[in-house]
Amino acid sequence: MGIAFTEYGPYWRSLRKFCNQQLFTTSKIESFASSRKNVLTYFIESLKEAAAEKEVVNISKKVGNLNAEIILNKILGPVKKCKEFNLKELIEELLYMVGVFNLVDFVPFLGAFDIQGLKARTRILGEKLDKALKTIINDHQQQKQDDFISTMLTEQINPNGDIMDRNCIKAITVDMIVAFLDTSTALLEWALLAPIKHPRVMSKLQKELERIIRKKMVEENDLPKLEYLDMVVKETLRLYLVAPMLIPRESMEDIVIDGRRVCPGRKLALIAVKLILAQLVHCFDWELPGGMSPNELDMTEKFSSTFPRKNNLCVKPIYRM
Ligand code: HEM
Repeated sequence: MGIAFTEYGPYWRSLRKFCNQQLFTTSKIESFASSRKNVLTYFIESLKEAAAEKEVVNISKKVGNLNAEIILNKILGPVKKCKEFNLKELIEELLYMVGVFNLVDFVPFLGAFDIQGLKARTRILGEKLDKALKTIINDHQQQKQDDFISTMLTEQINPNGDIMDRNCIKAITVDMIVAFLDTSTALLEWALLAPIKHPRVMSKLQKELERIIRKKMVEENDLPKLEYLDMVVKETLRLYLVAPMLIPRESMEDIVIDGRRVCPGRKLALIAVKLILAQLVHCFDWELPGGMSPNELDMTEKFSSTFPRKNNLCVKPIYRM
């Protein structure tokens, strides 16, 4: 069992403590800053090339790939196996299956017939994911790397004294990738849409960046100085619920609430989202294709485990540095 679907108790507490220490403390988040910077620099270069060619880019897809690279690097290291097994596509399929409408939830007797083919699809997906993770973990066992899987393998005894078995490592790995990928991508897409739709917001964001960052790349330690950027991201979170369904929870006993289960990855998510958004609006103006006006932008949401845009956002970058 991973963290998200484990009930409150000693096992959950020790897993949560372990993940907090290994992934979410300020020093751990900072230790991966250079890897995020490298991936982002490469990304901006590819957008500069698209701008020089006056290309329209599918920015939704591009930021999805960028986020995948950031999280996969952090959890699995730069392993070629991710591409070999199409790990990103498998996780996307998993996220789709979590949010999909299942007729059997409403008409239980249809369960035996698997009309939508969901049972078969879930089984095949489970087998593929399991094979991919098994191979990746084996590779890490043979050659230690500077990533989360290697840490889990080294520190296999959790604070409770229990051994973290292979299934536990697989479940935590999937938990982290799933928790990062769609939430951060959906938030980034909506947050980028706000300045594209409202030129006044774009102008304020760019002026703040020009005043504070000037002509250089935005660094993670610049983020606390960017107050307007912070407001844009917070307002986006208020307007678009990127994790609308939450995770089912029930109280196990009568209690007086003095705390609640919260997302341990929010700090990491906000750093990654703000850094990418800041860089995108600092380096580029964004033009809608075919003379489309911002009012014509399609704002429809897609029903899923998160609420991303229904249609991918396609825009033309114009380099402005
Ligand atoms: C914008 C980005 C994000 C949003 C909106 C978000 C939102 C949430 C929400 C609403 C929960 C459920 C809390 C509950 O009621 O139990 C949750 C749990 C969780 N999130 Fe996030 N999250 C984000 C990013 C991340 C990232 C980047 C990670 C890790 C890489 C992460 C890891 C987790 C984990 C492990 C849980 C389960 C915690 C537990 O059950 O103790 N999240 N998140």
